[in-house]
Amino acid sequence: MDKKDIKWSEIGFGYMSADYRFQADWKDGKWNEGALTTEDKITISECAGVIQYAQTCFEGLKAYTWKDGSIVTFRPELNAERMQNSARRLMMPEVSTEMFLRALDETVKANAAWVPPYGTGATLYVRPCLFGSGPVIGVAPAPEYIFRLFVTPVGPYFKGGIKPLKICVSDYDRAAPHGTGDIKAGLNYAMSLYPGQLAHSNGYAENMFLDAATRTNVEETGGANFLFVTKDGKLVTPKSSTILPSITRRSLVYVAKEYLGLEVEERVVPFEEVSEFAEIGVCGTAAVISPVGEIDHKNGKIMVPSGMNEFGPVLKKLRETLVGIQMGDVEAPEGWIRKIM
Ligand code: PLP
Ligand code: COI
Repeated sequence: MDKKDIKWSEIGFGYMSADYRFQADWKDGKWNEGALTTEDKITISECAGVIQYAQTCFEGLKAYTWKDGSIVTFRPELNAERMQNSARRLMMPEVSTEMFLRALDETVKANAAWVPPYGTGATLYVRPCLFGSGPVIGVAPAPEYIFRLFVTPVGPYFKGGIKPLKICVSDYDRAAPHGTGDIKAGLNYAMSLYPGQLAHSNGYAENMFLDAATRTNVEETGGANFLFVTKDGKLVTPKSSTILPSITRRSLVYVAKEYLGLEVEERVVPFEEVSEFAEIGVCGTAAVISPVGEIDHKNGKIMVPSGMNEFGPVLKKLRETLVGIQMGDVEAPEGWIRKIM
C-alpha cells in the first residue's frame, strides 16, 4: 500500500477529507450495523437535536504507523468508555465498545494510505462523534442519532511545534460544578471559543481555566489537562470533578510511576502554588505534551523556570517515553496498543 502524496512533516492540525468514514444510525430504539461510506457530507433535519439543543459529543484518538509498517491505536477502549459516559449525560444512546472498535478498525484500515509514515511527526487523528439527528422542537432528547467516525492526518496542535507556550488565566469559566466539564460535550467547546479567541488575539496560545466555584484552583485548558513538576522532581496533576479525564494524563501518571520511578500526586492544585513549580506542561491526544513557558494573570506573570526555549527535563523524558510507547519504540504496558493491521 502506497501512502498518499502529502508533505507529512509540514502539515498542521487541520481537516482533510480522507477516503472513508463509518456511520451507524439509531432509530426506533436501536442501532443499525453501521458501514463505511465515501460520502463526507451528512444530511439531517433542520430541527435536529444537535442543531437546536447542542446534543452532541465527540472523542479524539490517534493511529500511528510503526517502523515495521504496522498501524496501531492507543487505548481506544478508554475513548469508547468516555463516549458512553458523555452519551448518558446528554441523553443519547450509548455506542457499545464493540461498535466503537469495529468502526475504528474498519475506518483506519480503509484509510491506511492516510496514516502518516513513521518518523514524520504526523499522525492520523480519529474523530468519533455522536449527535441527535432527528427533529425535536420542545426541549427533549432527539428521536434519532448518528454515530460517525472519521479520520484526518494531523501535525502538531500548537503552531511552532513543541516550543514552550505562553498562556493566560481566563476571566471566563469552562465548566460549572456538577455541570458537563467531565464529559466531551460539544457545548463545552462552543463556550470556550470566545475566551479562546480573546486569548489568541492577545498573543496567548491557550487559556488556563480556574475552578468556577472558587476561582482559586487550576482546572485545565480548552483542550488539554495540566502537568506540573515540583522542584524536587515530583509530577503533580490537578484532580477535579469538572475537568475531562484525559487518557493521555492517566497514561502519563502510570508511565511516570512505573517507567520513570517518579512520585506522582493527583490532587487539587491551588493557583497560588503554580509559581513554585519547576516545569509546567499541558497534555492530551492533540497536544501530546506541550511545555508551558509563561502564564500571565491579572496580578502579573509567572515565568516558568524551564524557560521559553526548552522543554524541562522531566516533561521531556515523559514525552519521549509516551511517544516511544505509541510509536512502538518502547515496550507498552499490557493492553495499551491495539494493532489494526
Ligand atoms: N481536556 C480537554 C478539555 C480536552 O478536550 C482533551 C482532549 O481530548 C483533553 C483534556 C485531553 O484528553 P485526552 O488525553 O483523552 O485526549
Ligand atoms: C483531543 O486532544 O483529541 C481533543 O479533542 C482536543 C481538541 C480541542 C482538539
